[in-house]
Amino acid sequence: MKIFREKDYDAMSRRAAQVIAAEIAHNPACVLGLATGSTPEGAYKYLVDWYEKGFLSFTDVRSVNLDEYVGLSPDHDQSYRYFMRSNLFDHVDIAPENTRVPDGLAADTTAFCAEYDAYIRSLGYVDLQLLGIGRNGHIGFNEPGDCFVKETHVVDLAESTIDANSRFFATRDDVPKQAISMGIGAIMGAKKVLLCASGEEKADAIYNSVRGPITPKCPGSILQLHPNVVLVADEAALSKLIAAGVVK
Ligand code: F6R
Repeated sequence: MKIFREKDYDAMSRRAAQVIAAEIAHNPACVLGLATGSTPEGAYKYLVDWYEKGFLSFTDVRSVNLDEYVGLSPDHDQSYRYFMRSNLFDHVDIAPENTRVPDGLAADTTAFCAEYDAYIRSLGYVDLQLLGIGRNGHIGFNEPGDCFVKETHVVDLAESTIDANSRFFATRDDVPKQAISMGIGAIMGAKKVLLCASGEEKADAIYNSVRGPITPKCPGSILQLHPNVVLVADEAALSKLIAAGVVK
């Protein structure tokens, strides 16, 4: 695992955007696996800025997102499709038909999840998978549990995830209780993984993912088995690895 130690959120965002931009420069028709949430917002801002300056183009890029809340329409301002449009898709030259976000309104979620996996396979899997991480170690919405789930699936969100995400909703009761998430199979099938983290509250999840036992109780720990992971994190998120002497 290659680890970039960055001073703060902005430096983390810039470094993450550089890794993504380098992937696009190297392979203009790459498949990007994308994430939502607070962590990648800054990186998306850099990518939009560099696109506007003419440094990169998304014309041939295809994207698949990690997850979506069950029950939210693409136009709901807290849906992940809306997030992707307002943070990236509407501001760059990616073709809308080349972007996929799980359908939170799918009537038959079992069939939808199977189709999502089939689509990812048809692309030859993801070239670069961007990941944030939950305080409990979740990646995508693969929550801690007794086993790793390979396929795209419907997840019951952990109470701690509902708590964490309630900051985006008027009340905690408004936070959807389920999501559709890409499974561990598609994440581990990516040729390269870019894991990003910022802030003290991610320090345990990052430590456990990098140095803890490989266990579904910390889903991020499976990344220790991936041959090509880049971790970009600020000093607060790396603080436990720094204290343990793992990161200089
Ligand atoms: C989002 C996702 C989640 C988030 C995680 C961290 O698409 O898959 O795993 O990356 O919940 O969220 P933030 O970045 O808001 O702390």
